[in-house]
Amino acid sequence: MPKRSPDHAVHARKRHAPPIPARPAPDEPAPLLGGLTPAQFMKRYWQKKPLLIRQAIPDIEAPLTRDELFALAGNDDVESRLITHLRRRWALEHGPFSPDELPSPKTRQWTLLVQGADLHDDRARALLERFRFAPDARLDDLMISYASDGGGVGPHFDSYDVFLLQVHGKRRWRIGAQRDLSLEEGLPLKILANFEPEEEWLLEPGDMLYLPPHIAHDGVAEGECMTCSIGFRSPSTSELTSQFLYWLAERGSEKALEKNAPTLYRDPDQPAVAHPAQLPPALVSRVGDVLAKVRWSEADVSSFVGSWLSEPKSNVVFDAPGRPLDETRFAAQAAKNGVALDRRTILLYDARSYYLNGEQYLLRESRKWLPAFADNRSMDGKRFVTLSHDSSMTALLHEWYCAGWIRVGVLA
Ligand code: SIN
Ligand code: CO
Repeated sequence: MPKRSPDHAVHARKRHAPPIPARPAPDEPAPLLGGLTPAQFMKRYWQKKPLLIRQAIPDIEAPLTRDELFALAGNDDVESRLITHLRRRWALEHGPFSPDELPSPKTRQWTLLVQGADLHDDRARALLERFRFAPDARLDDLMISYASDGGGVGPHFDSYDVFLLQVHGKRRWRIGAQRDLSLEEGLPLKILANFEPEEEWLLEPGDMLYLPPHIAHDGVAEGECMTCSIGFRSPSTSELTSQFLYWLAERGSEKALEKNAPTLYRDPDQPAVAHPAQLPPALVSRVGDVLAKVRWSEADVSSFVGSWLSEPKSNVVFDAPGRPLDETRFAAQAAKNGVALDRRTILLYDARSYYLNGEQYLLRESRKWLPAFADNRSMDGKRFVTLSHDSSMTALLHEWYCAGWIRVGVLA
């Protein structure tokens, strides 16, 4: 297989933050989905069956160059993995990696995976914008992988939906609705022992493969390549339950603190015992009574889901402006060039509340502008001027700007 020259565009471009691409409308045919409307895609393919889309994004450019990706993998706050398959031995290492710790691109059969690229780069975040025909609450992150010739992560399956977008070079994908899920033993990564591919395609830049959960797949680079994985989160029932019960308990203790009356376990009728190590059946039954009284409402579930799903990942740190503009200057800038959510901000809403980076706030009558702002993730200068007659909006957005949750003057 001919190797790409090392000074290929993959590592030499200098670009600016891109404009935010338009969100696809549910009922308009989208080239991204091979001409299907998002509504048709969701109905026919989402969580159901794979779809190969040739030239989903023609003229695609990798959001990061190879060198930028390698530099990102050296960052302490970035989750990265290096997978090598040298001399038929799989090995896995976790980052951060300084660029000289990575193998040479000339060495065959290795791959670097960088998770959450959207949190660190506006171009990576902009790519995610195209996939917002699925709810933000389901979107997880953009992973970028670089592979040298022959590199890949081996045949495996994932438990989440993923769009595999080829952004540089070529990758051969083989997929199958694998029944035998047994894994190779003694390896540091999950590799199917008896992969039985049913279909095979060579993806070129701009081509994309959608896979629902549990479809086995194996992607092998043909020459140097870069792939973007747009991944969705699918919490397990046990994760949902434990997170909700934790949230409920925290909220319960906050309420008790407010009332200054924590409810404590009581047993005034406990007799003296001859077997102190024995668990008293009456104690177990009383605990059962307490647990049976745990109740929650639909509003509690919304509050939990909104707060939990809008919580930034643990490695997220917002950059508050070093010398923030005062409110008047902020408003002047916003009137000129608009405001936009920072790429790390998660803003969700329902009928009653909005959820900003893990906190719930009441969606008061005066916050009518907020749902459109959350959907668009930006507000242009003209709209800001119209809405800023309500000074409480300007004050609130200024507060968010000072916290680093939004950017001002970015829609020039
Ligand atoms: C890759 O980009 O190399 C791996 C993506 C995947 O198989 O999920
Ligand atoms: Co996968």
